[in-house]
Amino acid sequence: MSAPAAEKTGSTVRRDPHAALEIIDVSVKFGGITAVSDVSLSARRGQITGLIGPNGAGKTTTFNVITGLQEPTNGRVFIGEREVSHLPPYRRSRLGMARTFQRLEVFGSLSVYENVLAAAEFHHSWSDDATPPRLVANEIVERVGLSTVSEERVDALPTGIARLVELGRALATRPDLLLLDEVGSGLNHEETAALGDLMIELTRDGTAILLVEHDVELVMRVCDRIFVLDFGRLIANGTPEQIQKDPAVQAAYLGADTEEQK
Ligand SMILES: Nc1ncnc2c1ncn2[C@@H]1O[C@H](COP(=O)(O)OP(=O)(O)OP(=O)(O)O)[C@@H](O)[C@H]1O
Ligand SMILES: [Mg+2]
Repeated sequence: MSAPAAEKTGSTVRRDPHAALEIIDVSVKFGGITAVSDVSLSARRGQITGLIGPNGAGKTTTFNVITGLQEPTNGRVFIGEREVSHLPPYRRSRLGMARTFQRLEVFGSLSVYENVLAAAEFHHSWSDDATPPRLVANEIVERVGLSTVSEERVDALPTGIARLVELGRALATRPDLLLLDEVGSGLNHEETAALGDLMIELTRDGTAILLVEHDVELVMRVCDRIFVLDFGRLIANGTPEQIQKDPAVQAAYLGADTEEQK
């Protein structure tokens, strides 16, 4: 692994000076199970960073540590230069971080538009963004490709589409750092391609994306860098080309995936 030169910020040490997000030596134990073991990774501005690995590898747990929903047994979390290890989730989100959940967190009885509007209004209530929430919601619903189902109740929609509503809710908070946990699962080929295009477009404004995704084709297409977890440990990181060729990744994940598809 090539770790960039360490950078001192006050009493802290970050390793990636380009990081919008960095976690250092994070471990999480649940009783006897070590779900995450000494994981360090970063996500950079204007890039899509993949976090992949088999089921149970620790991806969602890592997201929970980053967002503050899970206290780590050990390790530190930085958003930009700021250490947030001891901040509650809402303080972290106010630093420009938003996420989607693997297990959907949307208001099923509200429409697509109302879901996004609720997030835009919440953001408007505390941020200095003066854009009227209704304008934000309209723009985002169109951007995630849901204009035609804008008035539909979310619980009447297929799960894949409901995930895009969650993406819309995250985008309505105008994040600089976006954590996506399997946001593409349940989408068809065309919808997945559109999602990939949208992610790339978001990075052009400087957004940093950390993407957990099992769709290897999507990951390889959109990611600038990829980190691979297996049994809670980081087994590789690099460009999509490097990751595809990595023997340890082949053995733990990509090889197994190919077998499944046969
Ligand atoms: N709250 C919890 N209590 C106990 N064990 C947990 C808890 N959350 C996760 N685990 C365990 O930690 C390990 C990592 O789980 P995690 O959900 O982070 O994996 P994942 O990489 O997101 O998997 P998937 O691809 O299936 O979503 C698993 O063994 C899981 O059973
Ligand atoms: Mg998960």
